Amino acid sequence: MNRLIQITDLHFGENPSAIIESINPVKSFSAILDEIENSDFRDAPILLSGDLSGCDNAGSYHMLNKMLFNRKKEIIWLPGNHDDLQEMNTHLTHYPRLSSLRLNNWSLITLNSSKAKSAVGFIDHHELLKLDFELSKVRSQFVIVAMHHCPASVGSDWLDRHRIENRNELFGVLSKYDNVVCILNGHVHQKFEGAWKGIPVYASPSSCFQFKYKSKEFAISSKPPGYRWLHLFDNGTLETGVKYLA
Ligand SMILES: [Fe+2]
Repeated sequence: MNRLIQITDLHFGENPSAIIESINPVKSFSAILDEIENSDFRDAPILLSGDLSGCDNAGSYHMLNKMLFNRKKEIIWLPGNHDDLQEMNTHLTHYPRLSSLRLNNWSLITLNSSKAKSAVGFIDHHELLKLDFELSKVRSQFVIVAMHHCPASVGSDWLDRHRIENRNELFGVLSKYDNVVCILNGHVHQKFEGAWKGIPVYASPSSCFQFKYKSKEFAISSKPPGYRWLHLFDNGTLETGVKYLA
C-alpha cells in the first residue's frame, strides 16, 4: 500500500507574516506539515496542486523551497492560476518540476491547467500531448492525473465558470486509457468528491482559507485549513479523505 498527501492552494504572500482572510498561510501550512509529521503519512510524498503563491511572488517560492527542504519532504508540484511557472522553476531550486511520480504500481501525472491572466482552466495542446505521452508510458500502472482546476461541476456557479474550458479535449486523451483511477485537483478551496464522465474527481480543501459550498457568488467559509490523504492499494483501489486543522 502507498500513501500520498495532497496539499493545495497555499496562497503564500510576499512575506511570512502576511495574513489572508484572517489566516497566516505560512503558519497554517506549517501546522499541516506538523500534523502529517505526527501521523502514518510522515514519509508519504506530497502533491502541491497549485496556487503555491497567492500573488506569483518570487519570495513566496523561495520561502516554500526552504521550508520543504528543511523538513526533507518529497514533493511534486504543479502550477495554479495565481502562480508564475517561470518564477517557480527559478526559485523552487530543490524541487525541479516533475511530469510524473512513480509509487510502486501507481503513477501520478501532473498537468498545467492554467492560462495567463485568467482564473479559468485551460490545458494547452502541448500539455495534452505530454499527458498522452506520459499515459502511454504507464499502461500497466494505476494512474492518478492531477491538475489545479476542476473538470467537474462543484455546484457553485462562480467556481463552475472556472472549470477547464477544453475539458472535452482532456477527456479525449484520458478516454484512450483504461487505467486512470481518478483526478485530483485544487482551486475550489473545499472538499469535493464527485465524478466527471465516469472518472472519480477529488478536490482538497486549501491549506489556507476555504470557499463556501454551493455558493452562487464568491464567498469565504469559516472552515479551517485542510488537506487530503490517500491510501493507494496494490489492487488499484484507493481510500481517501480530508483532514482539517483543529
Ligand atoms: Fe486557484
